[in-house]
Amino acid sequence: MEIKQAEFVISNSDPKKIPTDKVEYAFIGRSNVGKSSLINMLTNHKKLAKTSARPGKTQLINHFLINQDWYLVDLPGYGYAKASKSARSTWERFIADYLLDSKQLANVFVLLDCRHEPQKIDMEFMNWCGEKGIPFSMVFTKVDKLSSSALQKNVAKYKKEMLKQWAEIPPVFMTSSDSSFGREKLLNYIDQINKALKNG
Ligand code: GTP
Ligand code: MG
Repeated sequence: MEIKQAEFVISNSDPKKIPTDKVEYAFIGRSNVGKSSLINMLTNHKKLAKTSARPGKTQLINHFLINQDWYLVDLPGYGYAKASKSARSTWERFIADYLLDSKQLANVFVLLDCRHEPQKIDMEFMNWCGEKGIPFSMVFTKVDKLSSSALQKNVAKYKKEMLKQWAEIPPVFMTSSDSSFGREKLLNYIDQINKALKNG
Protein backbone atom coordinates (compact mmCIF):
# COMPACT_ATOMS: atom_id res chain seq x y z
CA MET A 1 0.00 0.00 0.00
CA GLU A 2 1.20 3.46 -0.81
CA ILE A 3 0.98 6.23 1.79
CA LYS A 4 0.00 9.25 -0.26
CA GLN A 5 -0.99 11.49 2.57
CA ALA A 6 -0.40 11.55 6.31
CA GLU A 7 -1.50 14.36 8.58
CA PHE A 8 -1.84 15.02 12.26
CA VAL A 9 -5.49 15.52 13.22
CA ILE A 10 -5.91 15.79 16.99
CA SER A 11 -4.38 15.06 20.40
CA ASN A 12 -6.78 13.98 23.11
CA SER A 13 -6.89 13.34 26.80
CA ASP A 14 -10.61 12.74 26.71
CA PRO A 15 -11.74 9.48 25.09
CA LYS A 16 -15.13 11.09 24.37
CA LYS A 17 -13.58 13.58 21.97
CA ILE A 18 -11.77 11.02 19.87
CA PRO A 19 -12.72 10.90 16.17
CA THR A 20 -15.11 8.08 15.41
CA ASP A 21 -15.54 8.56 11.68
CA LYS A 22 -12.89 6.22 10.32
CA VAL A 23 -11.18 2.90 10.93
CA GLU A 24 -8.23 3.15 13.27
CA TYR A 25 -5.07 1.24 14.09
CA ALA A 26 -3.50 1.88 17.48
CA PHE A 27 0.15 1.55 18.46
CA ILE A 28 0.84 0.63 22.03
CA GLY A 29 3.66 -0.68 24.17
CA ARG A 30 6.15 0.24 26.85
CA SER A 31 7.46 3.73 26.95
CA ASN A 32 10.45 4.13 24.58
CA VAL A 33 9.70 0.93 22.63
CA GLY A 34 9.45 2.97 19.41
CA LYS A 35 5.74 3.62 18.79
CA SER A 36 6.11 7.16 17.51
CA SER A 37 9.18 6.22 15.46
CA LEU A 38 7.28 3.36 13.82
CA ILE A 39 4.44 5.69 12.84
CA ASN A 40 6.98 8.02 11.24
CA MET A 41 8.66 5.11 9.47
CA LEU A 42 5.36 3.77 8.11
CA THR A 43 4.27 7.17 6.87
CA ASN A 44 7.72 8.19 5.61
CA HIS A 45 7.56 11.38 7.66
CA LYS A 46 10.47 12.05 9.97
CA LYS A 47 8.56 14.36 12.26
CA LEU A 48 4.90 13.42 12.09
CA ALA A 49 4.80 11.81 15.54
CA LYS A 50 7.08 13.27 18.21
CA THR A 51 9.83 10.90 19.32
CA SER A 52 12.39 11.14 22.08
CA ALA A 53 15.24 9.17 23.62
CA ARG A 54 13.63 9.97 26.98
CA PRO A 55 10.68 7.72 27.85
CA GLY A 56 7.29 9.29 28.46
CA LYS A 57 7.29 11.53 25.38
CA THR A 58 3.80 10.72 24.08
CA GLN A 59 1.24 11.57 26.74
CA LEU A 60 -1.97 11.92 24.77
CA ILE A 61 -3.96 9.92 22.25
CA ASN A 62 -2.81 11.22 18.86
CA HIS A 63 -4.74 10.61 15.65
CA PHE A 64 -3.01 10.74 12.26
CA LEU A 65 -5.18 10.58 9.16
CA ILE A 66 -3.73 8.44 6.37
CA ASN A 67 -4.78 8.75 2.71
CA GLN A 68 -7.92 10.58 3.93
CA ASP A 69 -9.23 7.13 4.76
CA TRP A 70 -8.02 5.67 8.06
CA TYR A 71 -6.19 6.62 11.25
CA LEU A 72 -2.94 5.60 12.82
CA VAL A 73 -3.17 6.25 16.56
CA ASP A 74 -0.12 6.96 18.68
CA LEU A 75 -0.67 6.19 22.36
CA PRO A 76 1.31 7.00 25.49
CA GLY A 77 3.59 4.20 26.66
CA TYR A 78 2.78 2.01 29.61
CA GLY A 79 5.25 0.99 32.28
CA TYR A 80 7.05 4.30 32.46
CA ALA A 81 9.06 3.77 35.64
CA LYS A 82 9.41 7.44 36.54
CA ALA A 83 5.71 8.25 36.37
CA SER A 84 3.98 8.43 39.73
CA LYS A 85 1.55 5.67 40.65
CA SER A 86 -1.45 7.95 40.31
CA ALA A 87 -0.27 9.25 36.93
CA ARG A 88 0.21 5.68 35.81
CA SER A 89 -3.24 4.56 36.84
CA THR A 90 -4.79 7.61 35.15
CA TRP A 91 -3.02 6.65 31.90
CA GLU A 92 -4.05 3.06 32.20
CA ARG A 93 -7.70 3.95 32.76
CA PHE A 94 -7.64 6.39 29.88
CA ILE A 95 -5.99 3.98 27.45
CA ALA A 96 -8.24 1.14 28.55
CA ASP A 97 -11.35 3.33 28.09
CA TYR A 98 -10.20 4.31 24.63
CA LEU A 99 -9.47 0.73 23.57
CA LEU A 100 -12.73 -0.59 24.98
CA ASP A 101 -14.94 2.22 23.72
CA SER A 102 -13.59 2.73 20.21
CA LYS A 103 -16.07 1.47 17.66
CA GLN A 104 -13.65 1.68 14.74
CA LEU A 105 -10.57 0.06 16.22
CA ALA A 106 -9.49 -2.48 13.60
CA ASN A 107 -6.29 -3.62 15.26
CA VAL A 108 -3.91 -2.85 18.10
CA PHE A 109 -0.23 -3.21 17.30
CA VAL A 110 1.52 -4.20 20.52
CA LEU A 111 5.13 -3.12 20.19
CA LEU A 112 7.81 -5.20 21.87
CA ASP A 113 11.50 -4.29 22.03
CA CYS A 114 13.15 -7.29 20.37
CA ARG A 115 16.18 -7.03 22.67
CA HIS A 116 14.22 -7.80 25.81
CA GLU A 117 13.01 -11.13 27.15
CA PRO A 118 9.22 -11.41 27.50
CA GLN A 119 8.14 -8.76 29.99
CA LYS A 120 5.32 -9.26 32.46
CA ILE A 121 3.64 -5.97 31.62
CA ASP A 122 3.49 -6.79 27.89
CA MET A 123 2.17 -10.29 28.52
CA GLU A 124 -0.47 -8.86 30.87
CA PHE A 125 -1.50 -6.28 28.31
CA MET A 126 -1.79 -8.85 25.50
CA ASN A 127 -3.74 -11.18 27.77
CA TRP A 128 -6.06 -8.30 28.60
CA CYS A 129 -6.63 -7.57 24.88
CA GLY A 130 -7.35 -11.25 24.28
CA GLU A 131 -9.81 -11.40 27.17
CA LYS A 132 -11.60 -8.27 25.98
CA GLY A 133 -11.72 -9.49 22.38
CA ILE A 134 -9.56 -6.61 21.12
CA PRO A 135 -7.74 -7.79 17.97
CA PHE A 136 -4.00 -7.32 18.27
CA SER A 137 -0.69 -8.18 16.62
CA MET A 138 2.82 -8.42 18.03
CA VAL A 139 5.31 -6.00 16.50
CA PHE A 140 8.96 -6.43 17.41
CA THR A 141 10.84 -3.13 17.20
CA LYS A 142 14.50 -2.14 16.82
CA VAL A 143 15.49 -5.35 14.98
CA ASP A 144 18.53 -3.43 13.64
CA LYS A 145 19.97 -3.81 17.14
CA LEU A 146 20.08 -7.63 17.19
CA SER A 147 21.65 -10.37 15.11
CA SER A 148 19.07 -12.49 13.32
CA SER A 149 19.82 -15.53 15.50
CA ALA A 150 19.39 -13.53 18.71
CA LEU A 151 16.18 -12.10 17.28
CA GLN A 152 14.75 -15.51 16.41
CA LYS A 153 15.63 -16.76 19.88
CA ASN A 154 13.85 -13.91 21.62
CA VAL A 155 10.80 -14.08 19.37
CA ALA A 156 10.55 -17.81 20.10
CA LYS A 157 10.53 -17.01 23.82
CA TYR A 158 7.64 -14.61 23.34
CA LYS A 159 5.70 -17.14 21.29
CA LYS A 160 6.26 -19.79 23.94
CA GLU A 161 5.02 -17.41 26.61
CA MET A 162 1.89 -16.57 24.56
CA LEU A 163 1.11 -20.25 24.03
CA LYS A 164 0.94 -20.74 27.80
CA GLN A 165 -2.26 -18.66 27.77
CA TRP A 166 -3.62 -18.89 24.25
CA ALA A 167 -4.15 -21.61 21.65
CA GLU A 168 -2.93 -19.38 18.84
CA ILE A 169 -0.26 -16.77 18.29
CA PRO A 170 -1.47 -13.47 16.83
CA PRO A 171 0.24 -12.11 13.68
CA VAL A 172 3.90 -11.27 14.36
CA PHE A 173 5.89 -8.51 12.63
CA MET A 174 9.58 -7.59 12.74
CA THR A 175 10.40 -3.93 12.27
CA SER A 176 13.17 -1.37 12.37
CA SER A 177 12.36 2.30 12.18
CA ASP A 178 16.03 2.96 11.46
CA SER A 179 16.24 0.78 8.35
CA SER A 180 12.50 0.69 7.47
CA PHE A 181 12.66 -3.09 7.69
CA GLY A 182 9.17 -4.61 7.88
CA ARG A 183 7.40 -1.56 6.44
CA GLU A 184 5.78 -3.27 3.47
CA LYS A 185 4.53 -6.23 5.44
CA LEU A 186 2.91 -4.10 8.09
CA LEU A 187 1.31 -1.74 5.58
CA ASN A 188 0.03 -4.67 3.52
CA TYR A 189 -1.51 -6.15 6.62
CA ILE A 190 -3.35 -2.88 7.31
CA ASP A 191 -4.40 -2.70 3.67
CA GLN A 192 -5.83 -6.22 3.82
CA ILE A 193 -7.89 -5.37 6.90
CA ASN A 194 -9.09 -2.10 5.33
CA LYS A 195 -10.22 -3.97 2.22
CA ALA A 196 -11.89 -6.73 4.22
CA LEU A 197 -13.79 -4.13 6.27
CA LYS A 198 -14.91 -2.28 3.14
CA ASN A 199 -16.10 -5.46 1.46
CA GLY A 200 -17.59 -6.94 4.51
P1 GTP B 1 6.98 7.16 24.38
O1 GTP B 1 6.22 8.13 23.53
O2 GTP B 1 7.86 7.80 25.38
O3 GTP B 1 6.09 6.11 24.98
O4 GTP B 1 8.04 6.36 23.43
P2 GTP B 1 7.82 5.69 22.00
O5 GTP B 1 7.45 4.27 22.17
O6 GTP B 1 6.96 6.53 21.13
O7 GTP B 1 9.33 5.69 21.44
P3 GTP B 1 10.00 6.66 20.37
O8 GTP B 1 9.46 6.37 19.01
O9 GTP B 1 9.95 8.05 20.87
O10 GTP B 1 11.50 6.08 20.35
C1 GTP B 1 12.26 5.96 21.54
C2 GTP B 1 13.74 5.88 21.20
O11 GTP B 1 14.03 4.67 20.49
C3 GTP B 1 14.21 7.01 20.28
O12 GTP B 1 15.50 7.39 20.72
C4 GTP B 1 14.27 6.37 18.91
O13 GTP B 1 15.22 6.95 18.06
C5 GTP B 1 14.67 4.93 19.25
N1 GTP B 1 14.16 3.98 18.24
C6 GTP B 1 12.87 3.81 17.89
N2 GTP B 1 12.74 2.86 16.95
C7 GTP B 1 13.99 2.41 16.69
C8 GTP B 1 14.53 1.42 15.79
O14 GTP B 1 13.82 0.73 15.03
N3 GTP B 1 15.87 1.23 15.83
C9 GTP B 1 16.68 1.93 16.65
N4 GTP B 1 17.99 1.65 16.63
N5 GTP B 1 16.23 2.88 17.50
C10 GTP B 1 14.91 3.12 17.52
MG1 MG C 1 5.81 8.16 21.58
